[in-house]
Amino acid sequence: MTETVGQHTDIAGQRIDIAGQHTDTAAQRTETGAQRTETVGDASSGRRPVDVESVSAVLVVAEVIRPLRWRVLRPDQPFAEAVYPGDDAPDTFHVAVRSGGDVLACASFHREPAPDGREGWRLRGMASATPGRGYGSTALTFGLAEVQRRGGRLVWCNARLPAVPFYQRHGFTVTSAEFEIPPIGRHVVMERVLP
Ligand SMILES: CC(C)(COP(=O)(O)OP(=O)(O)OC[C@H]1O[C@@H](n2cnc3c(N)ncnc32)[C@H](O)[C@@H]1OP(=O)(O)O)[C@@H](O)C(=O)NCCC(=O)NCCS
Repeated sequence: MTETVGQHTDIAGQRIDIAGQHTDTAAQRTETGAQRTETVGDASSGRRPVDVESVSAVLVVAEVIRPLRWRVLRPDQPFAEAVYPGDDAPDTFHVAVRSGGDVLACASFHREPAPDGREGWRLRGMASATPGRGYGSTALTFGLAEVQRRGGRLVWCNARLPAVPFYQRHGFTVTSAEFEIPPIGRHVVMERVLP
């Protein structure tokens, strides 16, 4: 089967980034139980509901996740604020949780030392279109596995205070006092050391 979605081509289970940054096998994709049902044409009975595709996590180029990043994380700022420094750096990767063409959650990871100088990967742009349905967890779990696959051990982020319990559930711990990032609000540094 060949499926073209935006800038990606899915050929018999291999997802290939046309921009050439990433090539991923089906084994690296994450499937959740969530299924989307759509109504499609049927020659004999008119229109009928079918399961189109389960939710999956894939690596994508930054352009794919910026609209969701902007809508969830920077809605009151210009779209340009959804373009982060390092987005297009060679080591940076972006995770999208998708169902069909819809981006349900996203997360970005790039090499950047932790605030105390230890070598690490910084998590940025963690966002979910529909909180509480597991999409954010799917994106984060997939991204942590990808960091591990690339030989990384330390993942850190500036966590917004309301998101702290979410990160804690994923094994992150708070490593700083609270600080303000205008105009977004209060944050803490959190980190997770991967096995
Ligand atoms: C933080 C955020 C990315 C989490 O994404 P999410 O899709 O809500 O994540 P999940 O659904 O996997 O988990 C969220 C909660 O729902 C619960 N949950 C997980 N799967 C669930 C499911 N299938 N059904 C119901 N609840 C579920 C989890 O227990 C979790 O609870 P917690 O918040 O107490 O940890 C999301 O809430 C978000 O976009 N927030 C706004 C932006 C933001 O603050 N981003 C972080 C910046 S540092």
